[in-house]
Amino acid sequence: MLPQEFILQVIQANPIESVAGSYVQLTRTGSKLKCKCPFHPDGTPSCVFYPENNSFYCFGCHVGGSVITFVQNIESVSFMEATKMLAERAGLTLPADDRSSDEIRRQENFRRRLLSLNRSAAKFYFEQLTGADKRGLLYLKNRELKPEIIRKYGLGYAGDQWDSLCRAMLAEGYTEDELIAANLCTRSAKNGGVYDRFRNRVMFPIFDLKGSVIAFGGRTVEPDGEPKYLNSSDTPVFRKGANLFSMNLAKKSQSKRLILAEGYMDVIAMFQGGFENVVASLGTALTPDQCRLIRNQRFEEVIVSYDSDAAGRNAAVKAINLLRAEGLQVRILRVENAKDPDEFLKKFGPAEFRRLLENAEDAVSFLLDRCKEGIDISEIGSKNIALQKAVKLLAAIENKLERGSYISKVAKEYEINRTELEEAVADALGQNRRKQHRQERQAVIQSPMIRDTVNPDANGHRREAKAEKMILCYLFRNPEALPEIRARLQPEEFVTALNRKIYTAFISCADRGLPPEQAVYSEDFSAEESGYIAGIPAEYDQVELSGQSVSDSIRLLKQHREFELPAETLSDEEFSAQFSRLAETKRGGSFL
Ligand code: CTP
Ligand code: MN
Repeated sequence: MLPQEFILQVIQANPIESVAGSYVQLTRTGSKLKCKCPFHPDGTPSCVFYPENNSFYCFGCHVGGSVITFVQNIESVSFMEATKMLAERAGLTLPADDRSSDEIRRQENFRRRLLSLNRSAAKFYFEQLTGADKRGLLYLKNRELKPEIIRKYGLGYAGDQWDSLCRAMLAEGYTEDELIAANLCTRSAKNGGVYDRFRNRVMFPIFDLKGSVIAFGGRTVEPDGEPKYLNSSDTPVFRKGANLFSMNLAKKSQSKRLILAEGYMDVIAMFQGGFENVVASLGTALTPDQCRLIRNQRFEEVIVSYDSDAAGRNAAVKAINLLRAEGLQVRILRVENAKDPDEFLKKFGPAEFRRLLENAEDAVSFLLDRCKEGIDISEIGSKNIALQKAVKLLAAIENKLERGSYISKVAKEYEINRTELEEAVADALGQNRRKQHRQERQAVIQSPMIRDTVNPDANGHRREAKAEKMILCYLFRNPEALPEIRARLQPEEFVTALNRKIYTAFISCADRGLPPEQAVYSEDFSAEESGYIAGIPAEYDQVELSGQSVSDSIRLLKQHREFELPAETLSDEEFSAQFSRLAETKRGGSFL
């Protein structure tokens, strides 16, 4: 456990607008900032950031909390890890003694061991290139890789023996369990022994941004070896979908442009040809996490350079959408007369490849061209089908000027009236907006605000839960009022469990001389609960709360308690007192 004081220090040292700003595009509105929510498909910017108390809240999906919660969600890490990342970002050192719980320390040690094992394995594979069995080196030579590139990428070779890596690593003091956890070895079902997972393959180590070896890809050197490529599965130090091959090198290039390829060999061939700003995804289709990684490395434009076959072009369409959703400019490289960039470079050389890069088509033109692919647009029926697809694409372009120029282009290509096309696009735009509103309304209806899943007690006690929230919100804004409110309202008098827990946390913060929002920044609350807490001040954002409304809320809670107490637990006096109060309230006609 980290001490509260340290957590507060981490939060203060990391303004949410600058942390969030490195992941998403923020726009300022008054004292707040907004963006399209990174945690759910969001048409309007519904995620709001409040620099004054370093919190955020999404009005669409109700994620919210502190700057730590933000990092927790966007990096998919634990509270502890997020806090550590932010401490590191701000240059704060973790408190020496109380670094983390035993369990976390154990996991960290294990991860460190696996990284060290991976590095040893990479070294072993590299040395095997020049061992007795030269098939690996020969293979790489045949693929025209220069020795310095082989060294730069740390390429290696896994030979034919079934346990050569195992034996070498066990001799270095690694355990069988570690070898299996790193996905380098497999346990035999027959005899329980361990054997190497990669055999007869040239090995591509995969590095993270810090230069640690986190995984491997291996390509068979046998003509019909299966599978052609074998990759590490996810391990405690590797998540495929969150890393990109060669990003450790690409991030060093000064370019704002990144080339995205399909294969390891494409990347290495490009790098050797002098294009160092190049990466590939790791044996899976591109993921949103990888797009975010690209943006976090400050790249602004991506040139998708996939294979020229149908599969490559279909994958490019998916990549375009994901990359654009992350706010990246996208262009598509058309590899001509070769199956992929690797083959192209071999056939035509780097100068010609540079020409391809310069002529890379913008993503919208690429998508528009695909609408009429294989269609004869001189035939009116087919032309209309293609046009309908084009109209959809045009309507999805957000920038008005950009949309206008593509409309002109399409009108010319299809030889139709520009105004009519413009009208069709306007209709589609209207439809899109209506659909989006519908979806957003649906999201709200299904949201935990309406049927509260975070604080389930609220479902049967809406008015009380509302009163409690109002009190909590008041305390957020006026922490100095806590002693007075506390004297009038006990935690037990809260009707709903979560609000009671928050109130109790406020009180314990106050007892330690901390402001109430400190309570939020603790591991006692789950991510959903943090979102709920952050939503409390956000909900009353535009509302002035008075001491009177707090008094009314307190009264409502006290009344609820009185009328809920089962009669048999009351003494006769208590019962008659309650009864006459109840009668009085009913006569007065108001229950608040
Ligand atoms: N891939 C994979 N598993 C496979 C095939 C491919 O993980 N069985 C991944 C690898 O990352 C590979 C990329 O997809 O680099 C591209 O695959 P492919 O086009 O088949 O390979 P090339 O890069 O053209 O491979 P090579 O030139 O070595 O034949
Ligand atoms: Mn290929």
